[in-house]
Amino acid sequence: MKVIELKNVEKIYNDSEVKVHAVRGVDLIFEEGEFAAIVGPSGSGKTTLLNMLGGLDKPTSGDIVISDIHISELTGSRLIDFRLHNIGFVFQSYNLIPVLTAKENVEFIMQMQGVPAKKRLERTKELLNEVGLGDRLDSRPAQLSGGQQQRVAVARALASKPKFILADEPTANLDSKSTENLLDIMEKLNKEEHITFIFSTHDARVMKKARRVITIEDGKVIRDEKK
Ligand SMILES: Nc1ncnc2c1ncn2[C@@H]1O[C@H](COP(=O)(O)OP(=O)(O)O)[C@@H](O)[C@H]1O
Ligand SMILES: [Mg+2]
Repeated sequence: MKVIELKNVEKIYNDSEVKVHAVRGVDLIFEEGEFAAIVGPSGSGKTTLLNMLGGLDKPTSGDIVISDIHISELTGSRLIDFRLHNIGFVFQSYNLIPVLTAKENVEFIMQMQGVPAKKRLERTKELLNEVGLGDRLDSRPAQLSGGQQQRVAVARALASKPKFILADEPTANLDSKSTENLLDIMEKLNKEEHITFIFSTHDARVMKKARRVITIEDGKVIRDEKK
């Protein structure tokens, strides 16, 4: 089943003195259950594309449809609400809340969704177990390694039961062992829990694991290969 469709999506940054045409006429369809990588050199438009997919930024023109909703038309609290219930984010720099423990970081999203306390705790434990951190519930981000922090971020992204997870260069700051470990967890979640993952990378090892590789250059899709 189709989860996301991009139709002739363009992004022109016009806020600085130079005009940057970051994404040029991208057409893409993502299906439920995909494990897809967006690859391309630095500056090719990966982050811009993922931000638009996640409703964090708007296309200059074109359309993005997620489960029949035209997300570029959503504004304010309707957009925030849509994101909260449909999309999980994982960032290159983890973006955990430093004063909260691993457990609290994961619980936070469910709190905003109004999930009752008992259910929240149950699901948090289950999720942190799944990413191999069942024994680190009360650790704060500073007490965890980069790889562990990113696994908390994956658990947090899953907490809202999103339709898909967007990950922007999730392994960029990780050593090779933590990279492998994170990829194994993402792959397991994809295969066993049918979580759809769309991630960007320029790491060849990460690319190899993807079942679909979309290559972008200068804001254009130049290759789209399914394995
Ligand atoms: N907020 C912004 N304002 C102006 N230009 C930007 C902004 N964000 C990104 N760009 C430019 O858009 C292009 C694509 O950037 P980006 O999407 O970050 O690429 P990537 O993630 O592949 O490195 C680059 O030329 C970058 O300098
Ligand atoms: Mg980027």
